[in-house]
Amino acid sequence: MRAAAQRLMKVFVTRRIPPEGLAVLHQSGVCSVQQWDSDEPIPQSELLAGIAGKDGLLCLLSDRIDKEVLDAAGPNLKVISTLSVGYDHLAIPEIKKRGIRVGYTPDILTDATAELTVALLLATSRRLPESVVEVKNGGWTTWKPLWMCGYGLSGSTVGIIGLGRIGQAVAHRLKPFGVQKFLYTGRHPKPEAAVELGTEFVPLAQLAEESDFVIVTCSLTPDTQGMCSRDFFCRMKKTSVFINTSRGAVVNQDDLYEALVNGHIAAAGLDVTTPEPLPIDNPLLSLKNCVILPHIGSATYATRNKMSVLAANNLLAGLKGESMPSELRL
Ligand code: NDP
Ligand code: DGY
Repeated sequence: MRAAAQRLMKVFVTRRIPPEGLAVLHQSGVCSVQQWDSDEPIPQSELLAGIAGKDGLLCLLSDRIDKEVLDAAGPNLKVISTLSVGYDHLAIPEIKKRGIRVGYTPDILTDATAELTVALLLATSRRLPESVVEVKNGGWTTWKPLWMCGYGLSGSTVGIIGLGRIGQAVAHRLKPFGVQKFLYTGRHPKPEAAVELGTEFVPLAQLAEESDFVIVTCSLTPDTQGMCSRDFFCRMKKTSVFINTSRGAVVNQDDLYEALVNGHIAAAGLDVTTPEPLPIDNPLLSLKNCVILPHIGSATYATRNKMSVLAANNLLAGLKGESMPSELRL
């Protein structure tokens, strides 16, 4: 009787998500669900209307949850659950000020993202997309000793910007390729990881100067925004390869374009760009030595299913005032 009389809490889901997560919400008996049931992003006007009066929000990294959205939600909003580990799209100070809790999806996507990072590194350094095109367009005329050469990992120095969960998982995967030395940079040294992986904590400039491969796996913050810019690329070796699977805004893309065109670096592989999607007339897309993927780091079926279930469970826990499986400490 009592349960039936209780008001169902209202949640808004900003996109079509794997059904496993939605089922968790529907079967909970805790909330009613309103959803923007599309694979395409929700228009801002629909987001503002949809979130009004809701208790919970399940959103994506492409939804900017700022003051305007929080004002539109009103005072009932108690939990925001994002289907991502990155949370740079959330206005954290505003959210904290309002006492709203935040859930996110760390750990479960680490393996998939690290795997994709290695795939992108190899595709870029060994020129796989360029080679595939040559086979299809008749450019493969014979075996040529000087044709389609790239750079190998064996005996190399790899520099990792942000040796967090994904950065460490990338290093573990690259070690068996015969990498000679790992360097990393971050806010703090990580002595345990350093011992296990044989990594050395160095300043950003040294990492740029000494690495054959630079891999960006840090979070996007005011400190990391635009961190890889002209000065950074000019310090890199002319034979080095730059890989970014964190967030596009960590890189100054105009400076990266200059570095690729002027031969300051050999090649770049990006899974993330500014903006996303990258307009098809962006100059980076005209370069053979730049491999760009559409932000697919965590895109395995199993990972996305787990992300949707975790995001749903975070949301429910927040609605019930319980401890979340993965709560962001604000
Ligand atoms: P973690 O929090 O474990 O790692 C983030 C790392 O960023 C930490 O090691 C941190 O270093 C580092 N960092 C923070 N500030 C700086 C700085 N000023 N300079 C250098 N490093 C810094 O997160 P995850 O590894 O789980 O995820 C990392 C990011 O990857 C996410 O925030 C997201 O943006 C992105 N991502 C992208 C995916 C994709 O599809 N391409 C998939 C999943 C994640 P310290 O510990 O010293 O503070
Ligand atoms: C994240 O989780 O932050 C990624 O960018 C998408 O999985």
